[in-house]
This record gives sequence, structure tokens and C-alpha cells, in this order.
Amino acid sequence: MIAAAVFASGSGSNAEAIVLASLPCSIELVVCDKPEAPVIQKAKNWNTEVFVCDPKTFPDKQAYEQAILLKLQEKQIKWIFLAGYMRLIGPTLLEAYQARIVNIHPSLLPAFAGKDAIGQALAAGVKVSGVTIHYVDAGMDTGSIIAQEAVAVRESDTHETLHQRIQAVEHKLYPKTIDYILTEQDGKE
Ligand code: GAR
Repeated sequence: MIAAAVFASGSGSNAEAIVLASLPCSIELVVCDKPEAPVIQKAKNWNTEVFVCDPKTFPDKQAYEQAILLKLQEKQIKWIFLAGYMRLIGPTLLEAYQARIVNIHPSLLPAFAGKDAIGQALAAGVKVSGVTIHYVDAGMDTGSIIAQEAVAVRESDTHETLHQRIQAVEHKLYPKTIDYILTEQDGKE
């Protein structure tokens, strides 16, 4: 079974969807950069090891990512799935995991990259937004797209209601796409 890690900074609902799905990989590690993030408590229920790594406790990004890399190597992690990890991946991890880091973003990229994609979509008045799953490169949400699904924006939508409908899509699309990547791509190596 392929060993994978999930990186999360927040509530961890996507991490949970991945962990609970039946996939051709086993989530051996949750990496979290926020010592107070709810995902840490959630991971205890999954019996998954959590590596809390606070960037503030390292002199620079390279040292921070080096500490994560060491842990990933110790656990023989082959794939990284970012699930609400609110930090740009730097060269240390990008080089070690070339084309093996995947991210989920709550918009139809390239629209509304960066922070608060849902707020950006509402402010722009678009009628359709959605979810994108893409490979991670050095840019902000710029890597090549693997899967997308549209979500209609309703006249009555608030940030909360649109976020809920987008998340419902995310929780299905992310596991499905991981399954696709691992069977179609990884299986061919
Ligand atoms: C998700 O909606 C994800 O798409 C978004 O953060 C949320 C995390 O929720 N990611 C980004 O905005 C990345 N730029 P979760 O912690 O409940 O999975």
C-alpha cells in the first residue's frame, strides 16, 4: 500500500474525507502548521499520527520544510495531499516530491486563486464557481489541473452557504481524484 500524507491548517473536513475513503493508499501522517487547528483533534479519532510543525519555531522556511521532509522520509511517504494547508510549498518539499504534491482549491482556477476564493467569487458576482484539484508547483494555485467541478452560485448565497455547497463537492471530488491519480498514474510506473 502506498503511504501518503495529508497537510492541513484548519478544520480538516477534507482530510477526514480522504482518510475515511477507501483508497489505494494509506494516510500515514497528518502534517499541521497550526498548533490550535481542529484537524489535530480529529486525527486522533482516525488513529493517524499528527506532526504539528509550527513555522514560527524555525529560523526560516527551509529549516521548517527540512523538518517536515525528515518526518516524511521516516514514514516513507510517497504522496502529499494538501487539504486546506494555507502555505506555499517551498523548494525543499517541491524538489523532494516533484509531481507528487496535490492541492484542492475552492474555485474554478485560474479564477480566484489565493486566499478566500469563496469571498472573491461572491464579490465578483459570478454565477458559477466550483472546486479545482491540481498538482502543486512553485506558484500560488498555478499547477496543472487534474479535476474540476462547477458549483452554481445562488442569488441568496452567503459566504457560509456557498462554502457548505463547495465543501460537499470537495469531499467527494478529492477522494475520487486521488483514486484516479494513484490507479492511473502511480500504477503505470
Ligand atoms: C477547503 O475548502 C479548501 O478547498 C480550502 O480550504 C478549505 C479547508 O477546509 N483551501 C484553500 O483555500 C487553499 N488555497 P477543511 O479544513 O475543512 O478541509
